[in-house]
Amino acid sequence: MSERLEDIAAAMVADGKGLLAADESSGTIKKRFDVIGVESTADSRRDYREMMFRAKEAMARYISGVILYDETIRQKAADGTPLVDIIKATGAIPGIKVDTGAKPLAGFPGDTITEGLDGLRERLTDYYKLGARFAKWRAVIDIDVAKGVPSATSIGSNAHALARYAALCQEAGIVPIVEPEVLMDGAHDIGTCYEISKATLTKLYTELYAARVVLEGTILKPNMVLAGKKSGKTSSPEEVAEKTIRLFRETVPAAIGGIAFLSGGQSDEEATANLNAINAIGPHPWKLTFSYGRALQAAPQKAWSGKAANVAAAQAAFAHRAHMNHLAALGKWQPDLEQAA
Ligand code: 13P
Repeated sequence: MSERLEDIAAAMVADGKGLLAADESSGTIKKRFDVIGVESTADSRRDYREMMFRAKEAMARYISGVILYDETIRQKAADGTPLVDIIKATGAIPGIKVDTGAKPLAGFPGDTITEGLDGLRERLTDYYKLGARFAKWRAVIDIDVAKGVPSATSIGSNAHALARYAALCQEAGIVPIVEPEVLMDGAHDIGTCYEISKATLTKLYTELYAARVVLEGTILKPNMVLAGKKSGKTSSPEEVAEKTIRLFRETVPAAIGGIAFLSGGQSDEEATANLNAINAIGPHPWKLTFSYGRALQAAPQKAWSGKAANVAAAQAAFAHRAHMNHLAALGKWQPDLEQAA
């Protein structure tokens, strides 16, 4: 494959393909494994992820790339094959999460700043050698309007960090996924999500320009415009699609390599239905696909539950969600296809 940044970015959002976000930190994957009663060890994490990467057809048809965690990009499968090689053999591109997590922002209770810039140049060189051709950095913007969260300082500091990260990635020949996640956890309405996301994306692209990041060689990983979970309201896919696209038209340059959404706590089917509705009202200036963690993995995780005997069933569950999201990336998904499986 071409090593030009814009070609890698284009391959990441190739028609009907999307990203598998399998880059849960050790803390996060432990939480997921607790739910299915599996002890989180280096081997169980390896076995679980190997199960998905070896779902050959689903990977080859629907998955353009996999976001890995530091441990996983260095791990070998049970038979000794590096996991990176298993991913590459399916045609998918290995990627790597490079931020070191969101920490409390000093002086701004409730806001966080994502860390990981120190030593990043050297780490990126190392990850390139290990096979990574794209990276991810997640900024976290929570919403609690009564408490003044997010502050302008938080939005600005996170956008600045994303821009510094993106510039370092491009210097290393790696496509940066820039992820400014406006959380859906709060009690806010959909209009508030729209306004905060607008402020966040506006600041993000100002900073990316200032850092001389080549937009064609970047992928945006945004939230959809949704009402907060604690608001008790669910917006229809049509409303989510209309507001999300309106937001992007106002804030996201057409030049970028593409858009790959996070699922952010939506149910599996909601994440699929919303992506489908977004693509159904196209054409749009950008490709819009998925980069789902939970919405691709919840079903296979449950089916697997840590047992080797369940691997085939878990792979089938993974293949189904990947297939549904493939259709949604094309705007061709229908709810009755969920039942058909
Ligand atoms: P979710 O799809 O579970 O939100 O995870 C995607 C991701 O990579 C968040 O950084």
